[in-house]
Amino acid sequence: MFELNGKTALVTGATRGIGEASARALDSAGARVILSGRTTNDLIRVASELKNEPVILEVDLSPRGAGSRHAEQVLEVTQGEGVNIIVNNAGIPMRRSPEALSEEDFDLVFSINVRSLLMLSIGLAEPMKRRGEGSIVNISSVASLRGPLGRVAYAGTKGAVDAMTRALATDWGNWGIRVNSICPGLIATAIWERDRNNSPGLIERMENNVALKRWGFGDDIADVVLFFASDASRYVTGEVIAVDGGMAHVGSAPRE
Ligand SMILES: NC(=O)c1ccc[n+]([C@@H]2O[C@H](COP(=O)([O-])OP(=O)(O)OC[C@H]3O[C@@H](n4cnc5c(N)ncnc54)[C@H](OP(=O)(O)O)[C@@H]3O)[C@@H](O)[C@H]2O)c1
Repeated sequence: MFELNGKTALVTGATRGIGEASARALDSAGARVILSGRTTNDLIRVASELKNEPVILEVDLSPRGAGSRHAEQVLEVTQGEGVNIIVNNAGIPMRRSPEALSEEDFDLVFSINVRSLLMLSIGLAEPMKRRGEGSIVNISSVASLRGPLGRVAYAGTKGAVDAMTRALATDWGNWGIRVNSICPGLIATAIWERDRNNSPGLIERMENNVALKRWGFGDDIADVVLFFASDASRYVTGEVIAVDGGMAHVGSAPRE
């Protein structure tokens, strides 16, 4: 039920972390994976361990127009066939208090996390509509479900991703295109590197907010990506699911 033989999947932000783990999971299930990101060496490294003739595409998703241009790149390498699965994973953090946030910060985080995600999906929808099937998996964040401290713009991007997930699922359901979103909690990837270095003890304190009392790994998210990419979720669309070890449900009452 989870097999993806004969399918093609695009994974953005596949150079490391959750994107790398997702690319491996999709490849293991039989899909041919197109990996994209800015760092060619890392794309080559990840692709070298995949078995189903992976393709790598170098792209910076921050400039205006980048999402649509990336869709054209993908259509070119697939001879107009496009992909069956899109994992919209590329994203950046933005840890800024409201007082410290500049318009440049706001534009940057929205350009990658929101604008390119949407324009790329729109640019790749046509072949999915032609075939009458497709699965789009958006990587959001638990920041969309809670009120994270000092990350208002980042939380805003992920709230937008979840809202667009529901709207696109409604717009494209007629064509059999499913759109779902995954909200990771604390996943041990490079995205946390700076916080780990700059705020001693922060990581340990945050772990206390996870019901399962451990950080997640890329594979914890990749397995749910596989569920949404495959027929196992054939009657699921417009859903936003936390994959966070229960973090979204842990209350904040002080301990007795
Ligand atoms: N880790 C967590 O705890 C966590 C929690 C909630 C949500 N998330 C979300 O999960 C997704 C992946 O995060 P991660 O933890 O795996 O982060 P990561 O290790 O920093 O990976 C981010 C990926 O996005 C790519 N990327 C960044 N800027 C880009 C740009 N301008 N153009 C194209 N690609 C770009 C990076 O590749 P290059 O640098 O090579 O371009 C990299 O492959 C993000 O959307 C993030 O918001 C993560």
